[in-house]
Amino acid sequence: MRLVLAAGARPNFMKVAPILWSLERQGHDAVLVHTGQHYDEEMSDAFFRDLDIRSPDHSLGVGSATHAVQTARVMEAFEPVLVQEAPDWVVVVGDVNSTLACALVTAKLRHEVGCRLAHVEAGLRSRDWRMPEEVNRVLTDRLSDLLLTPSRDGNENLVREGIQKDRIRFVGNVMIDTLLDRLTVARQSSIISDLGLDRGRYAVSTVHRPSNVDQAQSLRRVLSALGAVASELPVVLPVHPRTRDRIDHFGVWNLLEPLIAIEPVGYLDMIALMDGAALILTDSGGIQEETTALGIPCVTLREQTERPITVQEGTNRLAPWPITTQGILRTGMDAMRNGSQGESRPEGWDGKAAERIVDALREID
Ligand code: UD1
Repeated sequence: MRLVLAAGARPNFMKVAPILWSLERQGHDAVLVHTGQHYDEEMSDAFFRDLDIRSPDHSLGVGSATHAVQTARVMEAFEPVLVQEAPDWVVVVGDVNSTLACALVTAKLRHEVGCRLAHVEAGLRSRDWRMPEEVNRVLTDRLSDLLLTPSRDGNENLVREGIQKDRIRFVGNVMIDTLLDRLTVARQSSIISDLGLDRGRYAVSTVHRPSNVDQAQSLRRVLSALGAVASELPVVLPVHPRTRDRIDHFGVWNLLEPLIAIEPVGYLDMIALMDGAALILTDSGGIQEETTALGIPCVTLREQTERPITVQEGTNRLAPWPITTQGILRTGMDAMRNGSQGESRPEGWDGKAAERIVDALREID
């Protein structure tokens, strides 16, 4: 089988890695495309290193821009690559702008090139159309020939939207393949002691969603709430570039003073930090899943989640909405007292999702 695997942004890299390992182990011909949506050392290169992902065959170098420009640039640059490579399958992962852009190009050239489109992490729904990721998810699923879901609720969502059952396969969570593969190495990281912290006695937070950081009022609210948690235990905040930019723009650097604000960290250091934490506070999608697999209490700083299984079967809980300092403090303290029932691995979060993905692609090939 000949496949094009497309990745563009930080949360894509840990999903693509095990699929690439699995394809290459089985002797398939995999072409790796990096769109360049994320391009920094911290947001991209560090992940390629930590995950032993080989250099991309095509680097599209699209960079940052508005949604329309970024999506259009990926489409323009991906089209000739698809024509040149003429694969049997294009595999896209997750819900970022690069995912949708590559999916659109593939859907339009499907017949000309003779290829099909598979979406890994299909079927997740927040039902919040203000999130750019929700738009990307729904449209990518609609365009895909094969929809590979990480949890059974994904299948239900897709069937409800009228997608034929024979196009949907439950394969489990490919991010957890990567987590399980890298956990032993990650635990050798010295980041916890380098930051002067003790295992089990600190919290980690990440915030970058437009809904939390793009408006001055919401940014202030979320950073103040983290500041209140920091009066109970140290809070490490690796600052996403979008968040750093907004903090600069609104001139609210003072709100970082109670926190241990650091540059974004690579994959292994992030897993090490999460694994040693007493509590995680995040608006990330992937971290909700990783904390469930690690058994670390997680408070999701969003109104809803497209990953309800992490609440039903894992350690995740949603922050009372709208975010208030008292609400986060109470939920965070409660999560630490009652939130960790040990590691929880929902069905298919077993380190073998990539194998099932490759099987599904082969079956239909
Ligand atoms: C994107 C994804 C989001 C994902 C997040 C993970 C979409 C719509 N959003 O959001 O789902 O959770 O990535 O990080 O695709 N920047 C850098 N260096 C980089 C990349 C970006 O400094 O390597 C800065 C730029 O100033 C850019 C801003 O970050 O304008 C936002 O980047 P962008 O890729 O547009 O969206 P994210 O907020 O990262």
